[in-house]
Amino acid sequence: MRLAGKTVVLCVTGGIAAYKAADLTSKLRHAGAAVRVLMTESATQFISPMTFETLSGNRTVVDTFDRNFAWEVEHISLAKAADVFVIAPATANVIAKAAHGIADDMVTTTLLATKAPVVIAPAMNTGMYDNPVTQQNLQTLRMRGFHIIDPAAGRLACGDTGRGKLPDTPVLIHGIERALTPQDLAGLRVLVTAGPTQEAMDPVRFLSNHSSGKMGYAIAARAAMRGAAVTLVSGPTALDTPAGVQRVDIISARDMYDAVLSRADKQDMIIKAAAVGDYRPAQAAPEKLKKGDDALTVTLARNPDILAALGQRKRPGQLLCGFAMETQNLIDNAESKLRRKNCDMLVANSLRDEGAGFGTDTNIATLLFADGRRETEPIMSKEALADVILDRLIALRQ
Ligand code: PMT
Repeated sequence: MRLAGKTVVLCVTGGIAAYKAADLTSKLRHAGAAVRVLMTESATQFISPMTFETLSGNRTVVDTFDRNFAWEVEHISLAKAADVFVIAPATANVIAKAAHGIADDMVTTTLLATKAPVVIAPAMNTGMYDNPVTQQNLQTLRMRGFHIIDPAAGRLACGDTGRGKLPDTPVLIHGIERALTPQDLAGLRVLVTAGPTQEAMDPVRFLSNHSSGKMGYAIAARAAMRGAAVTLVSGPTALDTPAGVQRVDIISARDMYDAVLSRADKQDMIIKAAAVGDYRPAQAAPEKLKKGDDALTVTLARNPDILAALGQRKRPGQLLCGFAMETQNLIDNAESKLRRKNCDMLVANSLRDEGAGFGTDTNIATLLFADGRRETEPIMSKEALADVILDRLIALRQ
């Protein structure tokens, strides 16, 4: 989580969704951010400043001319203190003021003074949101580099149904973190595979492996956070889809082959972190296999090698990153996979290293490059390793 140690100036404006800003304040603080809350007068009709004081541990500022506490020009000091400036919920009124430089209260004067990235989460009645004036104001703010978090659709407090709901806290936090993250993958398409495959023996049994999907999901999440358009082709896992990622669910290696190969040509980077079954039962029985007294022999058929197929049809400019999971001769086996499968980079990890491999939150990897370079990484979180992998792929593009 990149929010630790950051100062978030959170502006709450007057709509029924103001109550959701309390949860946002709490979650930001849990993530290690310092939260300074500003409210408009109308926001105080929906929720008390004291709620935010308690949750943030800081005084909530409403009145620009409050002399009880301020020893400096408060809207200027808050504008400077902000690492990120958030308006959530943002009413049509504050959006219009922001678009036109109107500064007539604590929120809008501080907004005008800040140089921090600004995140705006509109929440209002559908008619107000869809109104061309509001849309034009939002477009003006987008063009000025403001980060707009699109509202969710659904039943609104006024009884109407449509766009205008303040998104849930995880979506808001993702938008705030994204505003704090350099968008060095913007404009790129990245496809990531993750998790195990399941190869059916009969309707109730399958062959699989211990992959949890954590490594691939971390790569997908970080690539999306850094601005890429990410497709995650995932085997069965218990993980939530990372925010901003398009997920395609598959079961077997052959499903994964079809899902990946049909999307491959459009991708700038393909990262194959999935643990794909090399074999499948040659015949999946149509009904449950009944047990008998004798041993059961199952004939296995070879699955297609997806990474090898990608390596054969790699287009100029496309980068292919494979993984290798080994229990012995890690580097030799990984080097051989890098060459045979025509990868630009390969991430080698060993099941024998404590803190590496299946199911863990950490990994230990050696990165091998097509030009012969090798880089051994110390133990780190899968999220941190995801960033290292993406950093190296960006460097290869250059
Ligand atoms: O999911 P986690 O619990 O977080 O665990 C992470 C991980 C251990 C699964 C991950 O770090 C990892 O190593 N993934 C690759 C596992 C693997 O299948 O390695 P391999 O050496 O068998 O395969 C080599 C490469 O070929 C891999 O990129 C694999 O996706 C690919 N492959 C393999 C077989 C096949 N039929 N098609 C493929 O594309």
